Amino acid sequence: MNIPFVNLALQFQSLESELVAAFREIGRSGVYIMGDQLSQFEAEIASYCGVRYALGVSDGSNALFLSLKALGIGPGDEVITATNSFIATAWVIVACGAKPVLVDVAEDFNIDPACVAAAITNKTRAIIPVHLTGRPAKMRELKSLAEKHNLWIVEDAAQSIGAKYNGHRVGSLGNCAGFSLHPLKNLGVYGDGGVITTDDVELYEKIKLLRNHGLVNRDKCEVWGFNSRLDTIQAEFARIKLRHLDRWNERCRAIATFYAARLECVVKVPPLAAHEECVFHNFVIRTDKRDELIIHLESKGVQTRIHYPIPIHLQQAAKTLGYLEGSFPQAELDAKTMLSLPIYPELTDSEIEYVATSILEFFN
Ligand SMILES: Cc1ncc(COP(=O)(O)O)c(C=O)c1O
Repeated sequence: MNIPFVNLALQFQSLESELVAAFREIGRSGVYIMGDQLSQFEAEIASYCGVRYALGVSDGSNALFLSLKALGIGPGDEVITATNSFIATAWVIVACGAKPVLVDVAEDFNIDPACVAAAITNKTRAIIPVHLTGRPAKMRELKSLAEKHNLWIVEDAAQSIGAKYNGHRVGSLGNCAGFSLHPLKNLGVYGDGGVITTDDVELYEKIKLLRNHGLVNRDKCEVWGFNSRLDTIQAEFARIKLRHLDRWNERCRAIATFYAARLECVVKVPPLAAHEECVFHNFVIRTDKRDELIIHLESKGVQTRIHYPIPIHLQQAAKTLGYLEGSFPQAELDAKTMLSLPIYPELTDSEIEYVATSILEFFN
């Protein structure tokens, strides 16, 4: 058997006629930028996340960047985030002129609130909790810290669309949230894309200007802005896919439950808590035989990945921040032991059985 880590072509095939019809309609309309489909998508995703406002933007990184800009984060400010994340979570802080303050993660791969508490200074303005692997971060603890110290919370929800925390969807848990619509995400378009959600009308109005050159209308510019809009065509593709998202996430949860039950006797499987409805963007196991296991799985035709092999604080780009090997023990241990298994809705029962059996065979 050959099981790729992702197989985007399968999902495209299942939606092909709908997508092509949408492309034809928009192609014939000639409205490729800021078309009606964008505002329709924004209304639908806002309602899906349980907030009043959403804005389509060029990608998930810019969703976070524009959120920070709109909150007024700039030079002299500190923003706390997790060291185990995709690099964009940190560069968006640098791009604002602020300082990323990295902290360690807990057993669930997400930012550890105790480490956040210890990192707060009088320069801290915001926390970016990353809902890594599709699992909501510990928002109750983080929100109480934010309230106590008067900090903004910008959720990095890039990997977690549809996930719930105590019954509330991610995207509605902080002051605002940035989602990625990158093709590899649970709701992925056919190129780059992103969304910002918020309940704060002031923030919404600011970001609306910032993402479109600072223009209030075609000719009048109110503030210096950026070109960071979601294309009409990608918004329509996202609308089509949003209708299937819950079903796809449900399938990923079922695969995760299957993997966890089969593999917990040989590897550490992701913890599951009743109040978290994880959407399993990734299913990450941990084992100190990780590198040998990768080779074994490759020989069986099973592709895996590591998210992420180098924590942000050990990246060359982050050298000036002054962190060293040993700064964040949990994230560093994770980087050496974790492994992401294939997980996507199109995987068949016999394929996931094959992945699990191949892993058990390695350990037995
Ligand atoms: C946790 C996290 N944050 C931010 C991003 C950035 O999103 P994008 O690639 O759409 O810019 C990603 C995407 O890879 C991500 O996984």
